[in-house]
Amino acid sequence: MARNITLIVNGVKREVEIEDNELLLDVLREKLKVKSVKAACWRGECGACTILLNGEPVKSCIVLAAEADGSEITTVEGLIKDGELSPIQRAFIENGALQCGFCTPAFTLFCHYILSTRPDITEEELREELSGIICRCGTYKQIIRAVMQAKKHYKK
Ligand code: FES
Ligand code: FES
Repeated sequence: MARNITLIVNGVKREVEIEDNELLLDVLREKLKVKSVKAACWRGECGACTILLNGEPVKSCIVLAAEADGSEITTVEGLIKDGELSPIQRAFIENGALQCGFCTPAFTLFCHYILSTRPDITEEELREELSGIICRCGTYKQIIRAVMQAKKHYKK
C-alpha cells in the first residue's frame, strides 16, 4: 500500500510516497536521488549503504522506509558544514583513503560517527569496528591512518 512519509535528510524535510515494503536504501537513491548511498549486496553484508539514522549507523538496505518515518537521516553530504569538508573527509583525502570511491561515503560517515562517540578509540579497536564495511580496493590501512589523523579534531 502506498503512503506518504517524512524524512529529514541532512537537515532538510523531505516528503515522499512509498510502498509499505520499500527499502530505505531504494527510497533514498531512487526517489530522493541521494546517490552517495551506495547499493551493492542488498542484504546487510557489505555496508556500502550505511547512513546515520537518528544519529546511529545503520545499513539502509535492511531498513524499511516506513520504519524511518519522521527520522533524521545523515548521508556523507551532511558532514559538510558551511561549504567546508569535515575533518574526517579532509583526512581521507590527505591520506589517500580511497581508490574507486565506492565505499567512501559509508566509511567516511561511519568513521565520523566513531570519532564523535569514541574520540579515544585505539587503532586495534578501530580495526574491529570497521569490519562491518567492505572496501574491495583494500584501502583499510589508509582509512585507519586517516581516522587516527582526524582524531584530534573530535576530542572535547
Ligand atoms: S547494500 Fe546494504 S549492506 Fe550491502
Ligand atoms: S575504495 Fe574502492 S571499494 Fe573502497
